[in-house]
Amino acid sequence: MKASAIAPANIALVKYWGKRDEELILPFNGSISVTLDKLFAHTTVEFDERYKEDILILNGKRVEQSSKDYQEYIGNFLRKFRERFGKTPKVKIESVTNFPTGAGLASSAAGFAALATAINEALGLNLDKKELSKLARLGSGSATRSIYGGFVEWLKGERNDGEDSYAIQIAPPEHWKELRMILCITSKEEKKIKSRAGMAQTVRTSPMYKCWLESAEKDLEDVRAGILSKDLELVGKVAEHNCLKMFATMLTTKPPIIYWNETSIRLIHSILEWRDEGIKCYFTMDAGPQVKVICLEKDEEKIKERLKEIEGVEDIIVTSPGDGAKVTEKHLF
Ligand code: DP6
Repeated sequence: MKASAIAPANIALVKYWGKRDEELILPFNGSISVTLDKLFAHTTVEFDERYKEDILILNGKRVEQSSKDYQEYIGNFLRKFRERFGKTPKVKIESVTNFPTGAGLASSAAGFAALATAINEALGLNLDKKELSKLARLGSGSATRSIYGGFVEWLKGERNDGEDSYAIQIAPPEHWKELRMILCITSKEEKKIKSRAGMAQTVRTSPMYKCWLESAEKDLEDVRAGILSKDLELVGKVAEHNCLKMFATMLTTKPPIIYWNETSIRLIHSILEWRDEGIKCYFTMDAGPQVKVICLEKDEEKIKERLKEIEGVEDIIVTSPGDGAKVTEKHLF
């Protein structure tokens, strides 16, 4: 009853922001993302009677069951998993990521997609990808999408039991392999407000949340069409606008949520200027200060050189569309 999996992070072009059901992690709106080829979580699970309690080791450090992080994420996930799939022996989970966690780089997406995939294998559940994406969803909304590679849509679903809220692949990574997401790391610190708390506060207190939902379907339609026709301008413009609309809801919560730092703002201004000069580049951001530049392979070097010059940029990671979660024989323990 031991297995391992590797799962990628993903970055949304049309964001998931707000839950209609916090227990089942059901979103108010659908979302579309690109699965990345360079950021991974590698997770090993072992269910065994010899463990007296569930154990989580994250990047080499034990996460105590009494901690808020444990309870809110893994603890909740394991409870829901067992309610659904029946009692299991206690489990030891060890996970490593090759990028900073909790800094707005989709670590929970990679982490829970890897965990769901490893659990499926360890317990021989034989879940197909659709069911796996629902299982990953119980851990973190964005993890729903990391099961698949390439370009992925998380269908919001209508049902109260969440059975129609899962991910589908819009196109495989090979469909648009020239697309690039350049991740500009502006801080490696863990953010103070996690997306989970941030989106709950938004739904509760932002007068803009209604507006956010009004244009969600149209953004999904445009980005879906843009991906299928490989239209960077359409995808970039809509993704950028969608991200700014999400930030408008965050900024107008009570108290306000501001994930940007000075470098994020500097990057946004630069990208808009470069675009005026004729370079096709767009930005998106998530619940953190990192800026992700959307562009094509042909402009990658030029943009990278310019990004390096910007004060405060700590690291630059160039990513392309990559594969989804998969089982690996390599165990961490
Ligand atoms: C801004 O999936 O981290 O990155 O479901 O509460 O775990 P929970 O939230 P999470 O939120 C991701 C928010 C986002 C947008 C996105 O990835 O779609």
